[in-house]
Amino acid sequence: MSLEQDRRKQLAADLAVQKIEPGMTVGLGTGSTADLVTRRLAELVAGGFLVTGVPTSRRTRELADSLGIPLLDLQDVDQIDLTIDGADEVQSGSLHALKGAGGALLREKLVALDSRRVLLVVDDTKMVDVIGQGFAVPVEVVQYGWRVPARSLVRIGAEITIRVDDASREPTLTDNDNYVIDADFGRIPEPDALSRQIKEITGVIEHGLFVDIADEVIVGDENGARSLVRDAS
Ligand code: A5P
Repeated sequence: MSLEQDRRKQLAADLAVQKIEPGMTVGLGTGSTADLVTRRLAELVAGGFLVTGVPTSRRTRELADSLGIPLLDLQDVDQIDLTIDGADEVQSGSLHALKGAGGALLREKLVALDSRRVLLVVDDTKMVDVIGQGFAVPVEVVQYGWRVPARSLVRIGAEITIRVDDASREPTLTDNDNYVIDADFGRIPEPDALSRQIKEITGVIEHGLFVDIADEVIVGDENGARSLVRDAS
């Protein structure tokens, strides 16, 4: 990752944090861009800003906790006011997104779906006309018999790879003790239809297509950070 790309992420994160109001319950995303949001928010909290965070992964929980942000688990909150998370690709206009390169897609989606408002923070390399160009769709599947949903993904047109740990070469475990299959469908012109097809597969727990979930995206680019809201059409 280039220094320039890091700077763009930071610009997006800084603007996103300005959307947080005192007293809010805030979903804290996972990934390098979301971490920048968490760090900035922690600076505000240290200065007396009142907020409660709901982490989308164990990793984010550890970071936010170490920085002194008061936290609650998703099951202990009634509703989240605002969730700020990263993304791997975001489709211009619709703001349909592809997420889960970091493997946290199930908790990320649960937190997002329980939020009044969902804000994605990205650098401009993540904005695309059609999602699926640069990333496969991460699909969280049960451990037991995982080859069964894997074969179903192939039948609906994916090239698949089971995600493995670099060191052990064993399948990577998610925070929920499941496996992740990266399912490459190439360009995805109709994410809604594909989303439903994947969800119908027995053994699939969740996938990284976020359709009609994001309300707004903040994009960091060479000129600063700009906000794009979802196209109503
Ligand atoms: C985590 O599972 C993902 O959904 C991340 O939000 C996504 O991969 C973006 O991460 P970066 O901000 O590190 O690119």
